[in-house]
Amino acid sequence: ATVFVLNGPNLNLLGTREPAIYGSATLDDIAGMLEDRGRELGLVIDMRQSNHEGHLIDWMHEAQAVGARAVLINAGAYTHTSIALHDAAKAITVPCIEVHLSDPLTREPFRHVSYIGMACVAEFRGHGPQSYVLALEHAATL
Ligand code: DQA
Repeated sequence: ATVFVLNGPNLNLLGTREPAIYGSATLDDIAGMLEDRGRELGLVIDMRQSNHEGHLIDWMHEAQAVGARAVLINAGAYTHTSIALHDAAKAITVPCIEVHLSDPLTREPFRHVSYIGMACVAEFRGHGPQSYVLALEHAATL
């Protein structure tokens, strides 16, 4: 089975982006971790990143079309703004799992609302890259 791992705006800059908050791992490093764990779990990882909201929505629709097991989504700042991503998660039957490197609930108040989270079956936040691995392990149980 395939698991889509969708990454939103600014996550292409991981490694150099605010390392005190997000750490030093790059998105490629995280993809490697997920591929290793995925192999053990019998899951194929389809990892993508876009700075454009509509691409993320199209990929959620694609996850449905190809019958993905789950969508792991770190929507970046769209987490806190995008009703369209919320609707996309509701529009597909593939279960969506929210992922964050940091813990938005301990940061600025504007990060305390998660629209995407309201449409997800689980959330993993505040564990750095390990948030993704925990989310993948949860996807394997679905
Ligand atoms: C983030 C948290 C968001 O609030 C922020 O806008 C990001 C990254 C995280 O992974 O910690 O871009 O999703």
